[in-house]
Amino acid sequence: MTDLYAVMGNPIAHSKSPQIHTAFAEQTEQSLLYSAMLVPTDGFDEAVSQFFRRGGKGLNVTVPFKQDAWRYADEHSTRAQRAQAVNTLIRQDDGQVLADNTDGVGLLRDLTDNHGVELRHKRILILGAGGAVRGVLQPLLEQQPAEVVIANRTVAKAQALAHDFDDLGRVSGCGFEALSGLFDVVINGTSASLVGELPPLPAGLVDGHSVCYDMMYSAETTVFNLWAQQQGAVITLDGLGMLVEQAAEAFALWRGVRPATRDVLEALRAALK
Ligand code: ATR
Repeated sequence: MTDLYAVMGNPIAHSKSPQIHTAFAEQTEQSLLYSAMLVPTDGFDEAVSQFFRRGGKGLNVTVPFKQDAWRYADEHSTRAQRAQAVNTLIRQDDGQVLADNTDGVGLLRDLTDNHGVELRHKRILILGAGGAVRGVLQPLLEQQPAEVVIANRTVAKAQALAHDFDDLGRVSGCGFEALSGLFDVVINGTSASLVGELPPLPAGLVDGHSVCYDMMYSAETTVFNLWAQQQGAVITLDGLGMLVEQAAEAFALWRGVRPATRDVLEALRAALK
């Protein structure tokens, strides 16, 4: 029987996950069916239970259900437990549901493997303190940067998030106006970019050596990356690579085989234009 997988979210129509996982399955000769499921905002638990009752093997979870998925699971990886939000559920043979969060490792693989960005001993700025940022902090801090600064519109959220992770490295939280000095890497994890907005950032945070990474992607250069280029950044990356890499990690967890990502990423990039 063909193994069933799906991504659940709301909205879900524009999800690229079915395309990505179908390409991975073809490449690795795995027999599986991966679909996108629109789930009512108050119907996540029921939808997941039903999916697994029907024999589903694993799920990806996206906005707005990442915390619901964390609550739903019976067991959690340490990074999922830290993030308190998950993008991957795995139904094990004994029926227990294991949760993992592959967003952070997806971001890291894109930065370090695909683009050769070194994070050790670097000064890193992260914009935003919501679920997307929470999901990537542990893998980032494991790279042993010199410092991670989390800047957010709601300062208390940045400080609380920094406090939750400060046993893993030097991490602090502040408002945008308090930012100063150059950063080696700046990562935009605010949802402001989804609506084409930009946090009010002071000048002088990036120069030609800084790597700027927008966790969102679009056909055109994102608002954040435009800002970064205007500030002198030469390397500006968007989140399409992270999307493909987090999917590859999830696929590996489900199927025990890690697909190659380059061709899939190139095909997605070409289709965006
Ligand atoms: P996600 O799961 O995408 O992280 P979230 O948990 O709702 O979504 O978090 C959204 C993040 O984007 C928050 O850091 C939010 O700032 P606040 O904590 O102050 O709300 C940030 N954000 C959203 N719109 C923004 C805007 N217009 N300017 C700056 N930051 C914004």
